Amino acid sequence: MKKDNKTQGDVATAIFGSEQMRQPAPSQKIPQHKTSPEIAYQIVKDETFPQTQPRLNLATFVTTYMDDYGTRLMNEAVGINYIDETEYPRVAVMCGRCINMIADMWNSPEKSDWKTGAVGIGSSEACMLGGVAAWLRWRERRKAAGQPCDKPNLVMSSAYQVVWEKFCQLWQIELRTVPITHEHPTLDIKRAIEMCDQNTICVVPIAGVTWTGMNDDIEALDKALDSFNKKSGYEIPIHVDAASGGFILPFIDANKKWDFRLKWVLSISTSGHKYGLVYPGLGWVVWRDKKYLPKEMSFSVNYLGANITQVGLNFSRPAAQILAQYYNFIRLGYEGYKEVHENSMAIAQYCHDAIGKMPCFENYSKEIVNPLFIWTLKPEYDKQAKWTLFDLQDKLLQSGWMVPAYTMPKDIEDMVVMRIVVRQGMSRDMADMLIGDICNAVAELEKLEYPTPTRIACQNRQKSKGHVFTH
Ligand SMILES: Cc1ncc(COP(=O)(O)O)c(C=O)c1O
Repeated sequence: MKKDNKTQGDVATAIFGSEQMRQPAPSQKIPQHKTSPEIAYQIVKDETFPQTQPRLNLATFVTTYMDDYGTRLMNEAVGINYIDETEYPRVAVMCGRCINMIADMWNSPEKSDWKTGAVGIGSSEACMLGGVAAWLRWRERRKAAGQPCDKPNLVMSSAYQVVWEKFCQLWQIELRTVPITHEHPTLDIKRAIEMCDQNTICVVPIAGVTWTGMNDDIEALDKALDSFNKKSGYEIPIHVDAASGGFILPFIDANKKWDFRLKWVLSISTSGHKYGLVYPGLGWVVWRDKKYLPKEMSFSVNYLGANITQVGLNFSRPAAQILAQYYNFIRLGYEGYKEVHENSMAIAQYCHDAIGKMPCFENYSKEIVNPLFIWTLKPEYDKQAKWTLFDLQDKLLQSGWMVPAYTMPKDIEDMVVMRIVVRQGMSRDMADMLIGDICNAVAELEKLEYPTPTRIACQNRQKSKGHVFTH
């Protein structure tokens, strides 16, 4: 009886009085015996206990706050599999409506009632679907012309997100990258065009570059590609990776042409779980028209009670995110999204200005175009500082903030930057607390007598390269 009470964690035995709380958590084998739900819950819950507060995580682009109704809808739909369309036909309808609204937001010229697009687990799946479609269309054209199809390539800036490396590795496509430099912090269009040839499946500009928060100039790329295609006879299209920008530009800079208003933009992907304001994992891809989605990408099955056609890498997937996206569209409307994103922009701008005023820092760009930005140590400060931004990252973590420091992509990899991503859930008051914590952390770091290990490593790297990095 006593033993039973110990393992059940019921009224008679406090959870923290149970046998399991004295044992290491299971890690190699499924435990032989059962555990009461209260204790099992506590073990799992406690595993995440020491992690940072999601809303203090300024490293992620992904939603860490949703209102109570959105959260409730998601919790209530947690057991729904999106692919079971026969059982939950309205989920498929809601998904189609979301695609329609996103296509409209991106100025799709498609006339049909249901616009052509697909849902993904995130931008990564959505990017892959856009990339595969571009590759298959290219292959089709090459085959029809009796030309070889064995050397496809894709052109984008070196500030790509890792998904494009994955895509190119997995589909065996050559990734041609245009280096970002201090002169060209976004895609250098002239060099991008120089890299294009008959084997280029598409050029991928980014709206909301992960590394910097800047936007590639998609309108200028479209223009340059148009004259290149005219001259060469190629038909190289654009897939826009708008993981962050896809839900920012339509609300913050609606007149800017970056979407289907441009001739060569045939597909666009975004993350519903970033500035679409839905908890993870949700991505979207939309094609300009049905004719740009190759038939080979639609798969039909008939064993779920009807003939179901699906475009996607995964088969089963959660439906809750789709409900939440649809809820957000209804709840917020265009105005609501605009207000939320304008607030994020204002708070990002506030932090940008405050950091720009601190004697040790320098912002990477003067203006911000998305609610995120990066900064560096001023070159003259960097030369004599005993610490680096990696030390500041560690210090801020002690106050609960996750503010990442990292090195920039190839060609400017000596540059260490720090980034803040402002999202729904970050108030002005929180921004003040953050700035206060940054000031305090810097004041403490400035008291150091000896260089930190990251500073020594940085000095050694610079010595071995024979130069001191400035910009
Ligand atoms: C430009 C860009 N593309 C793709 C991705 C991948 O997005 P996800 O995490 O939604 O798969 C990201 C993520 O930050 C990104 O910034």
